[in-house]
Amino acid sequence: MTEFDTTPGTAKQGRFGGVDRRGKPTRAIVIAPDISRRPAATPDAQGPSRTADERLSEAVGLALAIDLEIAAQFVVPLAKPVPATLLGSGKVDEIAGVIAAEKAGLVVVDHALTPVQQRNLEKAWNAKVLDRTGLILEIFGRRARTKEGTLQVELAHLNYQRGRLVRSWTHLERQRGGAGFMGGPGETQIEADRRILRDKIKRLENELDQVRRTRTLHRSKRQKVPLPVVALVGYTNAGKSTLFNRLTGADVMAENMLFATLDPTLRRVGLPGGTEAILSDTVGFISDLPTHLVAAFRATLEEVEEADLVIHVHDAADPQAGAQAEDVRTVLADMGVTPDDDHVIEAHNKIDALGPAERDALVRRLGDTEGEVALSALTGEGMDALKALIERKIAGALVTRRFVVPAANYEDVAWLYDHAIVRDRDDLDSGAVAVTVQMTREAADGYARRQQQRERQAG
Ligand code: GTP
Repeated sequence: MTEFDTTPGTAKQGRFGGVDRRGKPTRAIVIAPDISRRPAATPDAQGPSRTADERLSEAVGLALAIDLEIAAQFVVPLAKPVPATLLGSGKVDEIAGVIAAEKAGLVVVDHALTPVQQRNLEKAWNAKVLDRTGLILEIFGRRARTKEGTLQVELAHLNYQRGRLVRSWTHLERQRGGAGFMGGPGETQIEADRRILRDKIKRLENELDQVRRTRTLHRSKRQKVPLPVVALVGYTNAGKSTLFNRLTGADVMAENMLFATLDPTLRRVGLPGGTEAILSDTVGFISDLPTHLVAAFRATLEEVEEADLVIHVHDAADPQAGAQAEDVRTVLADMGVTPDDDHVIEAHNKIDALGPAERDALVRRLGDTEGEVALSALTGEGMDALKALIERKIAGALVTRRFVVPAANYEDVAWLYDHAIVRDRDDLDSGAVAVTVQMTREAADGYARRQQQRERQAG
């Protein structure tokens, strides 16, 4: 819950100021202004790859993901954006009628709104208005899993509010009169609010710095557990978390506690052939991410940059799966992550939700393509094929070595258990131990350095 409400509105405020997360779901109307039919040369600001209908159904999907109850949804043709209200006055009135008839408390406008437009629409409709940025912030707020992610989103939200506050409240400026604990004599309400926001932003930035420092520490600690890192990415709602839990569910044991406490989105996963990896879940991708949210979003994707293997989860049951997959690839490419075929798995999820014909078509399309699997994280179907594929793909990140450790160097055996996957162990009569291990190249180098150091000390 934010400390104070900076945007006028009628609906109760949620944690980030938008949607109430408790109690009954808010009834909402989702509208997609369609400027794509605007004459000539101006490119569609909402992204050229989607029709208005597709954008509407995407916005509805996002709205459902924050548990809104969708009372109505429609595309609104928009010949020319109106500065005060974006939509023309006829449309504004028409929509007001729908809002009243549907008893909706919130309107999602799948478009960027200026603070003034938002305020005017809220007044005209007597309902809270969430624009595209507000909607995405709500989603990020809900999905952020790490401390850092949560802080990033909160910060992005405060910055968004600050923009709204400055402009939309100017007209409300009034003298507070007299000295109060909030500020000096004569400080206006808006100045006080601005100052509170500024202080809060400063505090959050400091906290974020602190969290980042500890996170870097944790990460370097984790790097001492040299297992290949497998990152799950995908469009929001594709089923990443369900798959994450399905893949790691059986392994939520003591060994996972280390990761669980460092970061709930990292878990150790055991594969059928005995290989192990660290699986990393990430926040979902969204199309046309407003630029000022990109930093907040990327901060949650650090693991992907370091991953040995990326599993791209698709929602095979969503007609827009193709466009969504392109969005995900574009964002990754912008970040400099362009995994080649050896380092990516395309996982087509939710096949349980497909009709027999669609399912056949998908299975036929995938054929025997190495690197693509059809599965259901919900029912578990296809999981064996996925695990086997992960194992084949990360095999390249691991080398197999056999060492005979003399009895005098027994602590090396313990080191190998900590830093490698021990596949075979033979305790010889001489007291030496012969071990066959799989390890990352860094771990193999580490073991070699350890031996050289010992030889230097001995010599
Ligand atoms: P974000 O956190 O927004 O990125 O979502 P996510 O990709 O982590 O998706 P999540 O695992 O939260 O799943 C989204 C919805 O899809 C949930 O309602 C799941 O129950 C559902 N879901 C996930 N996997 C499957 C599946 O294999 N089949 C079906 N029918 N539903 C699934």
